[in-house]
Amino acid sequence: MYDKPMEDKTAYFFEVYGALPRAGPGDDASTEKAFRMMNGVPEKPMILDIGCGPGKQTLVLARISGGRIIALDNHRPFLERVEADARALGLSARIKTVLQDMKTMDFAPGTFDVIWSEGALYQMGFAAGLRACRPLLKAGGSIGLTELVWLTDDRSSEAVKWAWDYADMKDVKDNLALFEACGYEVDGHFTLPASSWIDSYYGPMRARIRELRETCRDKAAAREVLDAAQAEIEGFEKCSTELGYEFFVARRTE
Ligand SMILES: C[S@@+](CC[C@H](N)C(=O)[O-])C[C@H]1O[C@@H](n2cnc3c(N)ncnc32)[C@H](O)[C@@H]1O
Repeated sequence: MYDKPMEDKTAYFFEVYGALPRAGPGDDASTEKAFRMMNGVPEKPMILDIGCGPGKQTLVLARISGGRIIALDNHRPFLERVEADARALGLSARIKTVLQDMKTMDFAPGTFDVIWSEGALYQMGFAAGLRACRPLLKAGGSIGLTELVWLTDDRSSEAVKWAWDYADMKDVKDNLALFEACGYEVDGHFTLPASSWIDSYYGPMRARIRELRETCRDKAAAREVLDAAQAEIEGFEKCSTELGYEFFVARRTE
């Protein structure tokens, strides 16, 4: 894999993050729990999964909904993983991938019964994302999203440092108000369990960091990326009770 020069930090970033089972905290049981919290989803719904990444949740949604899914991401290798897994599970006829920037989505209004996005909608700005999704939903359509939130009012300096690049982060209450302001009624919400950070994300990331430290020993760009990834994990361990991912399930109001 390292037969060509690869000093670009972005390439190493994807060597770390792109090889993990999921591209963010989450787990199949939480995806299913959130889907089952939705009210009024028709049989065989039309679903849009924004920022699908490697698509673990896409596969769960296809299995439990019986519907058709558009899995959208702007990173082609993730979409290739989704396509390969869908083929292996016999789900290709119901999962279509779209390589697109979520900020320039051009689906017709009212296309989807359900819009999903685990750990990705914040890329548009969470409020802007909520507003952009609403017209794409059919009347009464639902959204299922995870968003990084503050879980406590007291915030340690470690927590503030860890979340430094997420200035827009809110607590659950303020997010609930935001849903309402953006034209949704919240049907339910819950905090992702600690295991969704450790088992499916940071555990595999630690293993990947160890592996790459061996193979990329003499590459400065790689060391920088690996140090940052390790600092992210260690930082999270210090503040994991103060912040977390909240799963929100909401319906478009008219
Ligand atoms: C934190 S990952 C979450 C991936 C997946 N939902 C999961 O939970 O494993 C965020 C995803 O959003 C994608 N992404 C980031 N910016 C994007 C954009 N502007 N348009 C489309 N996808 C984007 C990334 O490629 C990545 O797959």
